[in-house]
Amino acid sequence: MCGIFGIVTNEKKNLGPILISAGRRLSYRGYDTVGAATIPERGDIDLRKDVGKVDEVASRLKFEELTGNRAILQLRWATFGAPSQINAQPHLDSYGDLVGAHNGNIVNNVELRKQFLQEGMIVRSENDGESCVHAVERYANQGYDMVEAIRHAYNDLEGDYAFVIGKVGEDRLYAIKKGSGLVAGIGDDSTYISSDLPSILPLTKKIFRIQDGEIVIFWADRIELRNVEDGRLIQREPEIVEESMESVQKGGYAHFMLKEIHEQPKVAGDLLHLLDNTKEVDAMVERMANARNLYLVGCGTSYHACLLGSVYLNRLTGKASIPILAPQFIAQYGTTLTSDDVGIFVSQSGETKDVLNAINLAQEKKMGILGIANVVGSTLTQVSEHHIPLACGYEISVPATKTFSNQVIAFLYLAMRMGGHDTKALAKLPEWLTKTLESIQNQIPKIENRVSAWNDLYILGYGLTYPIALEGALKLKEITYAHCEGMLSTEFKHGPLSAVRDGYPVIFVAGPEDTSLIVSGINEITCRGGHAIAIGKADARLQNNANDAIELPQIDAPDNLEPYIDALMSILPLQLLSYRISVSRGYDPDFPRNLSKTLTVD
Ligand code: M6R
Repeated sequence: MCGIFGIVTNEKKNLGPILISAGRRLSYRGYDTVGAATIPERGDIDLRKDVGKVDEVASRLKFEELTGNRAILQLRWATFGAPSQINAQPHLDSYGDLVGAHNGNIVNNVELRKQFLQEGMIVRSENDGESCVHAVERYANQGYDMVEAIRHAYNDLEGDYAFVIGKVGEDRLYAIKKGSGLVAGIGDDSTYISSDLPSILPLTKKIFRIQDGEIVIFWADRIELRNVEDGRLIQREPEIVEESMESVQKGGYAHFMLKEIHEQPKVAGDLLHLLDNTKEVDAMVERMANARNLYLVGCGTSYHACLLGSVYLNRLTGKASIPILAPQFIAQYGTTLTSDDVGIFVSQSGETKDVLNAINLAQEKKMGILGIANVVGSTLTQVSEHHIPLACGYEISVPATKTFSNQVIAFLYLAMRMGGHDTKALAKLPEWLTKTLESIQNQIPKIENRVSAWNDLYILGYGLTYPIALEGALKLKEITYAHCEGMLSTEFKHGPLSAVRDGYPVIFVAGPEDTSLIVSGINEITCRGGHAIAIGKADARLQNNANDAIELPQIDAPDNLEPYIDALMSILPLQLLSYRISVSRGYDPDFPRNLSKTLTVD
């Protein structure tokens, strides 16, 4: 969701290729428009921006020609104002002395634009990034220096954002963080600012993770941090990041999504190793066991992991837990929360605004806050009393795959530990995931065309596979643009059954405990001419009743764990099916239209 990048170099040089590469690295976040600007010491800002993909816009507007020693790049995911050239960022101030771009949401944008117009400023777009620039212009016009102008602007701008700005005639850039990710880096002859770490890592490993309320001033050879409240200098040494860029390459796969699907066995092993060796698990289990109410809170895929986690917890520990979508947590439980309650907040990015809003409420109510997140250093990991990092490395593709399976494994591990079960039984999980991936490869093509022929369909599950049906449906609709609804299989007859007609596809995810129930659901479809596809372990009842069956392999999980593991395995064919249909329809599964990897707005 929007991405900003800024660079200051020690001499005038061709910055185009650096900006284009940074744009490509930020593009996983999702965007509609691309823009770049170079800021000279004298003369006019060179601003180029338009609707489209990084490579298209860069080639059309000749980004490779951009030269200078200061530049800003922005990818915009539309919220305020349509995705258009005029609304694209960066934006100029009234007279072209300042240029800036933001990532986030200025919630008082409409009011601010009216004020700026009344004050005689030239407002060109509807976009809230432009309001950030005018907010600084307002105080720069009153004679404040840039740091002071930014400090004043900060008080006028409501919302969560990260913002970078530069001024003609200077030798530095400025940035500020409030609620959205921001990282600064120092290289040999340049400094950088960016919405995230991966876009800086190829340039330098010496970085500062910027905190909320910090202003960054960066020259070619140094970075200064100041507190926005009082302007005081903040002393902090840069950290050296050891992460490799290998994980953000496709590694021979056609798409990140396919690579990430195949990484699931490896990252499951990494997570188990981490869980076996961290004290956080016991600390979390203690907080969970003593909670009055235990809430499992997330959005999208992370919420589906909460749903399955809740079944695991209930069945393995006997303790009830309440899975809930983050915004609904506020609406539904806001008034009844107490300091005896505990929330496990689950998020790949650790920055999802809906989740952070829920955490704010939990903090107000003095609840216990536990976290499960992939991005270490994200807001969620910082505000949690205890947290489990998902150990997945970067998940670049917008559809979550490996982070879902590791969220589920984290819940299973916590539930087993809390219920007094030996977690060593999970050691073979990577092997079971590999076996499942191998066994489904050749089975998916037989159902792919039939499913792809329809633009609406259902995926049904029951008990442990109900969350999998929801997650499978989310994957399918997210990247194939078909309407696909996930549902409890027994609910289907209470309404949606009327959609069934000749050839209508309904996918059933069958857990071993519920096969008979699933078979009766299958027959409700087939006797009305529908086409039932079963996903589950080899079982004559599924094969004899469904029109098609995707068989999951036998694994040597202990009997008491098998249904839990089977549920997890059954997401793999749905991930792969969604991926294949997306590609066969000519879409890019990594970057589905309108979507963003990190949703930092309400
Ligand atoms: O970063 P988060 O896990 O908090 O993101 C929540 C959802 O936006 C996310 O899971 C989304 O549903 C997935 N991209 C779907 O594949």
